[in-house]
Amino acid sequence: MVELAPSILSADFTRLGEQARAAVDGGATVLHIDVMDGHFVPNLTVGPPVVASLRKILKVPFDCHLMIERPDDFIPVFAEAGADWISVHQEACIHLDRSLRLIASHGCKPGVVINPATPVHTLDEILPLVHHVLVMSVNPGFGGQTFLASSLKKIELLSEIRKSRGLDFRIEVDGGIHHDTVADVVRAGAHILVAGRAVFEYGTPRESTKQLLASARA
Ligand code: DX5
Ligand code: ZN
Repeated sequence: MVELAPSILSADFTRLGEQARAAVDGGATVLHIDVMDGHFVPNLTVGPPVVASLRKILKVPFDCHLMIERPDDFIPVFAEAGADWISVHQEACIHLDRSLRLIASHGCKPGVVINPATPVHTLDEILPLVHHVLVMSVNPGFGGQTFLASSLKKIELLSEIRKSRGLDFRIEVDGGIHHDTVADVVRAGAHILVAGRAVFEYGTPRESTKQLLASARA
């Protein structure tokens, strides 16, 4: 079943708990937390204390998307703070296999992320290790960017590989997901849809989540 993972990047941080809870009430089953370090991407966001605070009030899995250099140094603290899924960028990991095993050794579900310029086949060797593959449909760093249609072919290819190799990783897509793009990514084979602006910047997070899920499942 298709799931929606609201990205808190576009939430009103003065009301973060309330807004995240509203998205969950609207049907979101995963919470996407974007972690940026100002090096791997040209922006800074939140770290483990925010994960730990939200953990106190929400039960849904926390999907921590690490857009950082040297992710291995931070995987233990995110796990300790309450992350359930941790994803690392293929482009940021010199020893990707090791990083994914490190995530699993801390009791979290390992995910790998690829930027728009990174081919799916760079993941061939590690696909059996991952719980999810996150296909970036924008260049990471900012919310509210335009969806890159080139990501559709990558989702389709991953979907084919998943079937032909009998693997069960889930396919997640992140960036520019709105009512007009959601049907295309679901058709291409995405299972988990990340949405920031579409959830938090129009109407209420509860209603926006409901409507986006309805469009995704139509
Ligand atoms: C971008 C982040 C995304 C972003 C999505 O670097 O990884 O999760 O918040 O935001 P929208 O849905 O607004 O494109
Ligand atoms: Zn993200």
